[in-house]
Amino acid sequence: MSKRVAIIGAGPSGLAQLRAFQSAKQNGEEIPEIVCYEKQENWGGLWNYTWRTGTDQYGEPVHGSMYRYLWSNGPKEGLEFADYSFEEHFGKPIASYPPRAVLFDYIEGRVKKAGVRDWIKFNHAVRDVSYDDASGQFTVKVKDLKADEVVTETFDNVVVASGHFSTPNIPEFEGMETFNGRIMHAHDFRDAMEFKDKDLLIVGTSYSAEDIGSQCWKYGANSITVSHRTAAMGYDWPENWQEVPLLTKLDKDTAYFKDGTSKKVDAVILCTGYLHHFPFMAENLRLKTPNILYPLNLYNGVVWEHNPKLMYLGMQDQWYTFNMFDAQAWYARDVIMGKLDVPSQAEMAKDIAEWRAKEDAIADDYASIEFQGDYTMQLMAMTDYPEFDISGANQAFFEWKKHKKKNIMTFRDNGYKSALTGTQAPAHHTPWKDALDDSMESYLES
Ligand SMILES: Cc1cc2nc3c(=O)[nH]c(=O)nc-3n(C[C@H](O)[C@H](O)[C@H](O)COP(=O)(O)OP(=O)(O)OC[C@H]3O[C@@H](n4cnc5c(N)ncnc54)[C@H](O)[C@@H]3O)c2cc1C
Ligand SMILES: NC(=O)c1ccc[n+]([C@@H]2O[C@H](COP(=O)([O-])OP(=O)(O)OC[C@H]3O[C@@H](n4cnc5c(N)ncnc54)[C@H](OP(=O)(O)O)[C@@H]3O)[C@@H](O)[C@H]2O)c1
Repeated sequence: MSKRVAIIGAGPSGLAQLRAFQSAKQNGEEIPEIVCYEKQENWGGLWNYTWRTGTDQYGEPVHGSMYRYLWSNGPKEGLEFADYSFEEHFGKPIASYPPRAVLFDYIEGRVKKAGVRDWIKFNHAVRDVSYDDASGQFTVKVKDLKADEVVTETFDNVVVASGHFSTPNIPEFEGMETFNGRIMHAHDFRDAMEFKDKDLLIVGTSYSAEDIGSQCWKYGANSITVSHRTAAMGYDWPENWQEVPLLTKLDKDTAYFKDGTSKKVDAVILCTGYLHHFPFMAENLRLKTPNILYPLNLYNGVVWEHNPKLMYLGMQDQWYTFNMFDAQAWYARDVIMGKLDVPSQAEMAKDIAEWRAKEDAIADDYASIEFQGDYTMQLMAMTDYPEFDISGANQAFFEWKKHKKKNIMTFRDNGYKSALTGTQAPAHHTPWKDALDDSMESYLES
């Protein structure tokens, strides 16, 4: 009997895994039986936009953290699938910072072409994964949400591709209970129009803070105040935008900061990141890691060192995304199919420790991009995933960083060269700050 493999999640990582197996099948190899469980109604993971917040129609926690008007925050040239270029999908060169709907269409295009939709059980939430030493198999309990039934199945391998930007990290600040306005986490942010003409306080200084603040500024917020714990972002912000030290307390309509200053605000958005949260994994299989480039206990960033039949995809902090998930998925496929060996646990632990030490020595964002580029390149070299010029993709990221530094509100007006096709992306027809329509139709207009 052939092996059975469970994949948890049909976002970019889970879909990469399906495409990896399908590509082996297309090459005439005998592949295991694949079952992918996806709790949402459709594929695409975070890129599958939902208006819902809190719980969904089945009472499940809503996975989506994406919001309306979201445009890619990094150049598309850094995430292009090596086996499916943007040009192949759209039939022409397109600009470098596509809105969400355009990236969703691109993600979907590849898996539609591969014909893997039948491998996915939608509206199925994985509830419990455990491993039995005696049988050498995993037991996976899954809730069929539509039928309201729990199904139990056994598998030889499990690939966890459930993402890690969905369970919000929510700190508490003194006086929150007395604040008169809205307090929310970035996970529940959906539409910047809600904050038109409002004075907004944002806590955090990473991508959500920068991008949600920018969205609200673009759609007419009165002022943006960003509070930092470690350091200010330091961009040259518009005049109604200020950076302040950490929030110390809230009282009715006022926020107080560590330097003794205060500001009247209408709403607070906590852009304080997410938790790696896998309540459905048995304790001895559960990844516990902060959001770092080389997560703990994952050999080659993928294989669970305590049981190499279990894989985690996409658990890294992310510069590289879709193409890194691909490199991981092709590697996971080859380990599962016995084409690649993994060493003893001691050797895996030693290798992980070496990567971790390298990460700890990283000096700046440029070195951080190179670290993840090198990691992706090493994985790619182990499999038949089509090679592409990683240094070219690194270059797109470096230019992106410089463009942000130059002007945080115009960086998305730049274009970069594809590391795959060599094509230089055209400029978008409208500057990002004036482009209020984020639909695919509008973006693809010449
Ligand atoms: C607001 C935001 C904006 C982002 N913007 C960008 C960007 O511009 N560019 C970029 O490259 N990256 C961006 N990212 C990073 C993002 O992590 C990746 O692009 C990508 O979506 C990760 O794919 P994934 O498949 O690993 O996880 P996800 O996209 O999170 O997909 C995981 C899937 O697993 C499913 N799932 C979870 N738990 C279960 C369960 N128990 N049972 C069954 N199914 C389950 C979910 O429903 C989901 O479909 C952004 C992230 C966020 C939060
Ligand atoms: N348009 C887009 O494409 C877009 C938009 C939004 C998000 N994203 C993606 O979403 C992912 C997650 O980004 P993120 O910004 O949500 O999370 P993140 O990168 O993990 O950053 C978390 C931030 O929260 C701060 N923080 C955490 N706990 C805090 C506390 N108790 N008090 C104050 N500050 C605290 C951190 O500050 P310290 O520095 O002090 O630790 C950090 O600034 C990224 O991959 C990003 O690329 C993309």
